[in-house]
Amino acid sequence: MTQNSMQEQVLAALRGVLHPHTGEDLMAAGYVRDVEIRPDGEVRFAFTLQPQDPGSLVKQARSAVQAVDGVGKVKVNVQLPQAGTQPSAAPAPPRPAPSAPPSGDGGGLKPGSVPAPTPKPGILSETDHVVAVSSGKGGVGKSMVASNLAAALADQGLRVGLLDADIYGPNIPRMFGETRRPRVTGGKGKEMIEPLEAHGVRLMSLGFLLEEEQPAIMRGPLIAGILRQFLEQVDWGPLDVLVVDMPPGTGDAQLSLVQTIDVDGAVMVSTPQAVAVGDVRRGVKMFERVNTQVLGIVENMAGEVFGSGGGEALAGDMGLNFLGRVPLDPAVREAGDAGKPTVLSAPDSPAGQALAKVAEAVFKALHTAKAGAISS
Ligand SMILES: Nc1ncnc2c1ncn2[C@@H]1O[C@H](COP(=O)(O)OP(=O)(O)O)[C@@H](O)[C@H]1O
Ligand SMILES: [Mg+2]
Repeated sequence: MTQNSMQEQVLAALRGVLHPHTGEDLMAAGYVRDVEIRPDGEVRFAFTLQPQDPGSLVKQARSAVQAVDGVGKVKVNVQLPQAGTQPSAAPAPPRPAPSAPPSGDGGGLKPGSVPAPTPKPGILSETDHVVAVSSGKGGVGKSMVASNLAAALADQGLRVGLLDADIYGPNIPRMFGETRRPRVTGGKGKEMIEPLEAHGVRLMSLGFLLEEEQPAIMRGPLIAGILRQFLEQVDWGPLDVLVVDMPPGTGDAQLSLVQTIDVDGAVMVSTPQAVAVGDVRRGVKMFERVNTQVLGIVENMAGEVFGSGGGEALAGDMGLNFLGRVPLDPAVREAGDAGKPTVLSAPDSPAGQALAKVAEAVFKALHTAKAGAISS
């Protein structure tokens, strides 16, 4: 087939995808730009996803193109409309300080009472959005949520990185089935670490670099330095979203992250029980104190054993988004054993479906957060 007729067929395929709400086809509605067909059959195009659009639209476009005869790889460069490029947007003021809420259990510290982060210019300059996944304590499924969020967004065509900032218990390598060692590139003095890529996500973890037996006590003092190196000296390349799997708690690592880079928002993971909920409350306060927006709360491990509803009630109580409820599901453990996140290994399982919805909710909240930070 000639390049030209393939181009025509690809465009026809895209015209065949109709927006579920407006009924317009993707080409006519201006969603797709820069369609490029390479000699080897790889097709690339840019896709602008509006906040109100279902994330599945990108997937539909991708499948339609993939179905055209002769098409090899399909690479979609998903773009979120930047609030700053909207016609009515005023020049960006500094990050808004949340208005003073009634003092809760924040220990007397008010939001913004810690100096605002002063991210170093240039760090992650090719990254559009940074999301930190955090929790009050360990074992609640923070790494599981971070992994599935990253994998689900990558599956939609976004360029995604996943940074394992849990220096004490890095579990991203296992969740992605990765045991290779990252390569170092660049000349003397300019060495960069290359992230490993698995399931469409660029990964970096201390677990790739340290021997397993290395005691945690040696890792402690390294935290701030290592995080900084992971941000500055890892060749992430252009990313739509960098997901950061945070260590549990509200300590130095959280502070050092928000002081090193501009975090767009934090996703808090909680189990349904009241105890976990209290820990999350402290976590939320911590992010508010450093003026980092909390995108919302994910309730994980809901079910008969732990009950359900605690996370949602907390979200309501604190005026936060509820990003979804993930049930206790054997598919999650199996995914861990298989080294492939549940949204990819068992997309139809209860947890797989719930996690895909969580990813969509986070994606939307992220967009709103960015728009809000500029227009308010
Ligand atoms: N919804 C779930 N259903 C079943 N098992 C889960 C679920 N969420 C997490 N787990 C399991 O619980 C353990 C802890 O999860 P993990 O993501 O490592 O927690 P954290 O990062 O918060 O310490 C893992 O073995 C994981 O497979
Ligand atoms: Mg973890």
